[in-house]
Amino acid sequence: MCGIFSYIGEKEIISTLLSGLKRLEYRGYDSAGISVFDNNKIITIKEKGKISSLAGIIGGYSISSTCGISHTRWATHGEPNKINAHPHTDQKENISIVHNGIIENYLVLRRELEKEGIVFKSETDSEVIAQLIGKHYSGNLEKAVKKSLIDLEGTYGIAVICKNEPDKIIGARKGSPLIAGIGQNESFLASDVSPIVPHTREVIYLEDNDVIVLEKNSHRIFNMAAASVKKEITSIDWDISQIEKQGYEHFMLKEIFEQPETIQNASAGRILPEDGTVKLGGLQSSLSDIDSIRRIMLIACGTAWHAAMIGEYMLENYAEIPVEVDYASEFRYRNAVIEEGTAVFVISQSGETADTLAALREAKERGARVYGIVNIVGSTIARETDAGIYIHAGPEIGVASTKAFTSQVVSLALLTLFLGRRRSISREKGLEILDALKKLPEQVRSILKKNNEISLIAEKYFQHKNALYLGRSYNFPVALEGALKLKEISYIHAEGYPAAEMKHGPIALIDEDMPVVVIASRCGIYDKLISNIQEVKARKGKIIIIANEGDDEISRFADDIIYVPQTIDLLSPVLNVIPLQLLAYHIAVKRGCNVDMPRNLAKSVTVE
Ligand code: AGP
Repeated sequence: MCGIFSYIGEKEIISTLLSGLKRLEYRGYDSAGISVFDNNKIITIKEKGKISSLAGIIGGYSISSTCGISHTRWATHGEPNKINAHPHTDQKENISIVHNGIIENYLVLRRELEKEGIVFKSETDSEVIAQLIGKHYSGNLEKAVKKSLIDLEGTYGIAVICKNEPDKIIGARKGSPLIAGIGQNESFLASDVSPIVPHTREVIYLEDNDVIVLEKNSHRIFNMAAASVKKEITSIDWDISQIEKQGYEHFMLKEIFEQPETIQNASAGRILPEDGTVKLGGLQSSLSDIDSIRRIMLIACGTAWHAAMIGEYMLENYAEIPVEVDYASEFRYRNAVIEEGTAVFVISQSGETADTLAALREAKERGARVYGIVNIVGSTIARETDAGIYIHAGPEIGVASTKAFTSQVVSLALLTLFLGRRRSISREKGLEILDALKKLPEQVRSILKKNNEISLIAEKYFQHKNALYLGRSYNFPVALEGALKLKEISYIHAEGYPAAEMKHGPIALIDEDMPVVVIASRCGIYDKLISNIQEVKARKGKIIIIANEGDDEISRFADDIIYVPQTIDLLSPVLNVIPLQLLAYHIAVKRGCNVDMPRNLAKSVTVE
């Protein structure tokens, strides 16, 4: 996730900004940069890679200044490189900005500005903000910023400086966190409190549509809708290690709770409501190949493979394209048949998994068009595929994948809609899917409110040695994912199974010591699922049911039940997995396990 740190005061600016950026490293980034005032101009220095590389370059400058902005970039639009790094300046180098968030209408704005003769330097959406402010600036930075923000659609947290007004920093927030630090003769503006706390614990949390004008020892806040607003100053009492987790005990829990935002980001800027479909920028240049697809192979490892399994149900049900799912490590050696019209999609959060990368290369070797569904922009897999879809989940620090999984599933739903609407899905069906997508973030928020309830359920089961997870159709892969979450962070042996498979062997395992988690969404085969539950009940299995709100009937079979909102079948995995993530998390914590870094595991398996 990108990081912003800005300062105006009396301290030497270079060391102040660099130490602030170091505090933001935990958020994950691929490039960094600063803009500072120096002798009536703005100096901008930026570099791909780590902050240490940037510091090495800055060492060559002698700058005496006490005001500037800085940024660590997590690439969303445009490769991670020097040109795309922030800050971005306008054409006249009069304005410099740093930006967190996604500007959804940046292409439209960019074309309009280019028609007016403005020449862009980068591929980013963020540069549009700098160029717009530069265009609107006529001696009053505050006015130019306000006028520019009106044109922006999407999310932003920005810090802006102007060559002609070296005594201020302007900040604005809409959908991406921005916090002001209020010190003694110094002020700060950052994307979270971690770089502010070493200087002052007095902060103001800006809200959406707030604009702040920060000077060395004063600040003014107004709202885009109204006149000036009064904001209370809060005292931070967290320590720095908590701050990096933003108050959560573990990165995994923080990332579980980020899912309303990351699920929203997965579809942000891609929805075409008028046509009941989506636009996937990464596939736009391959439309003729896309339309010639006759079969799809989904290849991945671990959690990404579970997402691929869900993708199979989606694509066959809605786009009517035959799909095959493969473990990457198996695909490489099984002499898979790849005929004309076969498209291979590799799915990978890190974009560096060795097995998946090897499978990608094998598929290309055999003449397949290979697409990526990846989280990390510019990762090896992203660079080696012919085209693809970024899931925009932000850096996932916890080894156990959570937010990346739900964003992979949402991205596969977008792909299904994209392909389906170019084939057999009606506009009405497309609108139904878009409507369900739009409701997801709020529905996830409602499930996250059950965190304490789920922790109490975990209390009852954390000392068990085994567990079974059962699901059917779209939720069979969710059963696999729930079992993987539990085993990889709590070390309890857990297996996922298609519910109907119980009678073919696993039911021999059922007794009062075997907790059985059943995902019982109301769907086409609900009645058969009830029979599977009864089979477990009859053998004294302890049953934890994930059911749809309003389904009171099923509670009579449950020892514990967690209700989730109803959604359409292809999106039900996104909601059903949330309680399983929290259940695994709380069981692991109660067992004293290292939740963020489980034994024997790595976040990215770059070895075969
Ligand atoms: C999931 O919780 C695990 N960390 C692991 O299975 C992971 O999903 C797998 O290694 C694939 O990683 P990737 O998505 O980065 O390729």
